[in-house]
Amino acid sequence: MYDMRGLLVPVLILSSLGSTFPITDKGPPTLPSHVQHVGAQYGWHNLSCPICKILFSVLDISLEVESNQEAVAELAERVCRELRLAEPSVCQQTVQIFKKDMITAWVMSMLRPSEICGLLVGAECGTWDIGSDWNITFPPKPKPPVVPPVPPAPGSPVSRVLFLTDLHWDRDYLPGGSLNCQEPLCCRNPPTDNRTGAGYWGTYSKCDLPLHTIQSLLRHVSAQGPYQAVYWTGDIPAHNVWQQTRANQLDALKTVTGLIQKYLGTMPIYPAVGNHESTPVNSFPPPYVQGNLSSHWLYHSMAQEWHQWLPESALKTLRTAGFYTVQTGPRLRLVSLNMNFCAVENFWLLINYTDPAGQLQWLVQVLQEAEEKGEKVHIIGHIPPGSCMKSWSWNYYRIVNRYEGTIAGQFFGHTHVDEFEMFYDEETLTRPVSVAFISPSVTTFINLNPGYRVYQIDGEYPGSSHMVLDHETYILNLTEANAQPTLEPRWPLLYSARKTYGMKSAFPADWDLLIHTFLQDDKLFQTFWYLHHKGHVDEVCRENCKTTLLCALRTGRSSDPELCKDLLLPGKPVWQRKKFC
Ligand SMILES: *[C@@H]1O[C@H](CO)[C@@H](O)[C@H](O)[C@H]1NC(C)=O
Ligand SMILES: *[C@@H]1O[C@H](CO)[C@@H](O)[C@H](O)[C@H]1NC(C)=O
Ligand SMILES: *[C@@H]1O[C@H](CO)[C@@H](O)[C@H](O)[C@H]1NC(C)=O
Ligand SMILES: *[C@@H]1O[C@H](CO)[C@@H](O)[C@H](O)[C@H]1NC(C)=O
Ligand SMILES: *[C@@H]1O[C@H](CO)[C@@H](O)[C@H](O)[C@H]1NC(C)=O
Ligand SMILES: *[C@@H]1O[C@H](CO)[C@@H](O)[C@H](O)[C@H]1NC(C)=O
Ligand SMILES: [Zn+2]
Ligand SMILES: [Zn+2]
Repeated sequence: MYDMRGLLVPVLILSSLGSTFPITDKGPPTLPSHVQHVGAQYGWHNLSCPICKILFSVLDISLEVESNQEAVAELAERVCRELRLAEPSVCQQTVQIFKKDMITAWVMSMLRPSEICGLLVGAECGTWDIGSDWNITFPPKPKPPVVPPVPPAPGSPVSRVLFLTDLHWDRDYLPGGSLNCQEPLCCRNPPTDNRTGAGYWGTYSKCDLPLHTIQSLLRHVSAQGPYQAVYWTGDIPAHNVWQQTRANQLDALKTVTGLIQKYLGTMPIYPAVGNHESTPVNSFPPPYVQGNLSSHWLYHSMAQEWHQWLPESALKTLRTAGFYTVQTGPRLRLVSLNMNFCAVENFWLLINYTDPAGQLQWLVQVLQEAEEKGEKVHIIGHIPPGSCMKSWSWNYYRIVNRYEGTIAGQFFGHTHVDEFEMFYDEETLTRPVSVAFISPSVTTFINLNPGYRVYQIDGEYPGSSHMVLDHETYILNLTEANAQPTLEPRWPLLYSARKTYGMKSAFPADWDLLIHTFLQDDKLFQTFWYLHHKGHVDEVCRENCKTTLLCALRTGRSSDPELCKDLLLPGKPVWQRKKFC
């Protein structure tokens, strides 16, 4: 999907550089997600070092003057249009939404001329050390001996946890609307041709969900309850990111929170912050950004909306930085991370990549206390750790290693597809220590059935591992539901993990074994591919697609070629994973 930071950073840079160096138009560029890629993509290695420094000095000075911000924004819009990065109206509205945050982040960032020119021109022109590594510090306490998990005794209590993620409610969803459009999100305008329009309950296209589908889901899951807990990992608003206002986002937060409270309010509910909650999308300034550009407007409303679900201690950190911890059982604790502080798309992190908001150091402290009290911890969050920026991801991996005996489960969303990410011991990268489960989205975006998950977890009794024992995924079959739009749709079971994959248990070692089995047994892998898309696939997956996907399953930390060196053969082109989020 549109990576707006990836779009705006090059646009701002390009526009500030004007016509100093040639831009080759090779059709719509694939939008880069990280500044490093930008240089290579637009070929500005031809920029000379002195010119680069002069340009960026001028840019830095000029951006500090309000009127020049307008000029830069105008240029950005023109470049966006002329490079055909998006439709003209999308360009115009995107720049309007992004300009204030982008330019402030830019001015505050450490991207002074010498750093940025080091990046763009080469090491001889300056040093690029932003995003270089940083290390979390651990308390001087030894790691307890590793005890491999064992299945609970027959008859032990089992908890059912309802997992909802990526609802993406589109208030302008139009049943019968156009399936094809130039904008990033469709099904919102009357059709211009005679082709079948958007379905009543949702559509296999670039579309999000109408509210009545979300209500149907909640009616259904409520009837299937009770659950010991509901984990809800964010992305409430739709993908109309070029036209969202703060008022729109807060309205979505209130509307959907109200519905969840109405249908599931008798059960404990624990939310996490997604990357679409803010506007501009992915814009999550760390707490040292004060004033109107800060996330105060968002986190304070969340604390207000969610106050019935969380204790004051949790609301306090939620208000400051969008993360919290809460004790959820006699020996069980939940940590809800704000994964926007790990995201390469969060352009505010240009200012300082080092442990944004001090979140990981805080996590270490929470886990250390839990270890001492003999508590187990479930971690929930939106963006899975394997797609975080490298320094964050590697520190998180180290934390999971250190506290493997305490972290009983990790649960994420964001990718919209059904998958998981393995964590191995740091020393050998062979012993599975943890698995991050990634549940598929409620939304159809893109070409998917709506869906949700229920985890079966070792229940509440002395000595419980509180680990995942199995999970079930349910879908709404759009073909069937839209054929009879006036009937309440069914949300049948799509599959049950252990049964479908023939697993003895669902501990980390079993998921690692499953990846090995996928390599040998292509039929089982094709089942995974089908379920990965919630039963609606539009292409086959062989060879590079398969190895790339298996590599992703092994990759609990980003940019680590060691994890896949036996899978990805040198010289073979890497398959680009499709992005749904
Ligand atoms: C950059 O310079 C090289 C030679 O120095 C030239 O071959 C190449 O075409 C230039 N690239 C662009 C994008 O101007
Ligand atoms: C972080 O730790 C790694 C591994 O222990 C070490 O190689 C690296 O130099 C450290 N980096 C910093 C900035 O301390
Ligand atoms: C759409 O349907 C109308 C009426 O059935 C027909 O007259 C028209 O030619 C059709 N247009 C297209 C583009 O097929
Ligand atoms: C704060 O920013 C928002 C969004 O840019 C804007 O709508 C609002 O008017 C601003 N408020 C103040 C007090 O500047
Ligand atoms: C970046 O943030 C870290 C952690 O909060 C802090 O220690 C460091 O001084 C900051 N760096 C700069 C250049 O502000
Ligand atoms: C959805 O329903 C259609 C029509 O009955 C059927 O062909 C398809 O296999 C179903 N998909 C799933 C995932 O059950
Ligand atoms: Zn999403
Ligand atoms: Zn997301």
